[in-house]
Order: sequence, then structure tokens, then C-alpha cells
Amino acid sequence: MTGTAVRVDQVSKSFRLYHERNQTLKSAIMRGRTSVHEDFWALDDVSFDVPEGSTFGLIGSNGSGKSTLLKCLANIYFPNKGTITHFGKIAAMLEVGSGFHSELSGRENVFLNGSILGMSKKEITSKFDEIVAFSGVEQFIDQPVKNYSSGMYVRLGFAIAINVDPDILVVDEVLSVGDQEFQEKCFLKFADFRKAGKTVILVSHSMGTVEAMCDRVAWLSHGELKKVGPAAGTIKSYLSSLTPEA
Ligand SMILES: Nc1ncnc2c1ncn2[C@@H]1O[C@H](COP(=O)(O)OP(=O)(O)OP(=O)(O)O)[C@@H](O)[C@H]1O
Ligand SMILES: [Mg+2]
Repeated sequence: MTGTAVRVDQVSKSFRLYHERNQTLKSAIMRGRTSVHEDFWALDDVSFDVPEGSTFGLIGSNGSGKSTLLKCLANIYFPNKGTITHFGKIAAMLEVGSGFHSELSGRENVFLNGSILGMSKKEITSKFDEIVAFSGVEQFIDQPVKNYSSGMYVRLGFAIAINVDPDILVVDEVLSVGDQEFQEKCFLKFADFRKAGKTVILVSHSMGTVEAMCDRVAWLSHGELKKVGPAAGTIKSYLSSLTPEA
């Protein structure tokens, strides 16, 4: 059998919530070194393994910690406690436009983003046409991306991420801003990924998508892992938690 692609081990992540209303320099000085804040635990002792070659879903209500966990996976945030280990090259598609520079053209962003994701200039040049073709934004490739629609941003970002050829692809809700045709194209790409033995971790609020695509699913609620296991069972538990029994 296959091994583990990602191991999330007792991960907790807190943010400081500040309560001062008037944050002026004067009030800050008057207050001295004391500040009124509370630690808010966006992730609380979360552990699970993502099997290599699986498509793994992350579900849960708004604010339950899904994006925070993905950012920890992508090394954008660092957990306060616990560890995340990934076995292989990771590429992440997080918020719309993240990693893009709005004043630069689509073309320039392909090079910028590709190099951030670890591709050499030569590699990007050789894959450039394929990236642009997949994105479907050929006509606008020399326009600054600030004039792109949200869907166009996501198309280009996703086209770059998959061409980096990662072992593990991490995708937040973003794909839902793409139109039907693009979403179908992405799902086919995920299937190719899977055939090649690669791992996909995705967040979605569409339970139909998650059930159709994922082998295993983790459900987060208020930063805690409620359940992890085969897709159908985890989705069922999540949905029944939303509808109080009559
Ligand atoms: N940088 C930050 N500073 C302070 N609080 C944050 C920060 N990032 C996230 N949070 C808080 O952590 C909690 C979890 O947020 P997160 O974005 O992970 O939720 P989510 O499950 O992705 O929700 P959604 O379904 O709405 O995308 C929220 O209460 C949010 O306010
Ligand atoms: Mg989110």
C-alpha cells in the first residue's frame, strides 16, 4: 500500500484578538505595556494523516479553521504547537489572487509566481504556452492582472499551480469562482493527478463535489477535528450536525 503524503500532528494555531477600541498612539502609550487581548484558538489539537495518492477533503462551517489549516500546510502560518510534515513538493492555491502582483501583466505573473513555486525560468518558458492555454486568458495575458475578473485570476493561478507539477496540491474554495467549464477541466486535472499517484487536498462547501472527488474527509468545527474518515460517513455526520433532529 501507499504511504503518507502529509502528517498533521497535534496542531494548534492561535491568533490574538485585541479589544481596544481606539487604537491611537496616545492611547497605546498611556496604556503602557499592557494590552487587552485574548488568544483565540483557530485550530485546537488537530491530528490526521493524508494518505499518499488520495484526494482528501476538508469540510466545516465558516470560520471553522479550514483555510488556517491550509495556510499551515503551505507554510504561510506556523502552528503554535504541533507539527506538519509533508513528504513531497507542495503547491497551494489559496485565496483569489494570492501570490499575484496586481500591477504586473498575466505573463509577468506567470514568471513571478512560477519562480516562487520553485520553477526555473527555462522550465516556465517551456510550459508557458500550456499554462496560458489551460487558463483560457490568452487574449488578456499582457494586461495587468488588476483588470482580470475573479474567475480569470483563479484560472491563471490554477494553471500555474498544476504546471509546477507538485506531489501534493492544496486547493482552497477558490475553484468555485470558476465557471462550470473551468471547474470540469480542473476536476479532470485532479483525476489525472490521482492517476499519477499524486495527492490533492481540497476545501469545499459543496458536499456534492467533496463526495464525488474525495476518498477521505476531515470535518473541522470551531478549530477542532470532529471526524476524519471515508468521505460519505464524514459528510453525513457534518450535515446531520447542521440540522437539529426533530
Ligand atoms: N490572521 C488572522 N488573524 C486573526 N484571526 C484569524 C486570522 N486568520 C483566521 N482567523 C480566524 O480564525 C478562524 C478560522 O478562520 P478560517 O479562515 O480558517 O476559517 P474557514 O474554515 O476557512 O472559513 P470559511 O468557510 O469562511 O472560509 C476565524 O474565526 C478567523 O476569524
Ligand atoms: Mg476559508
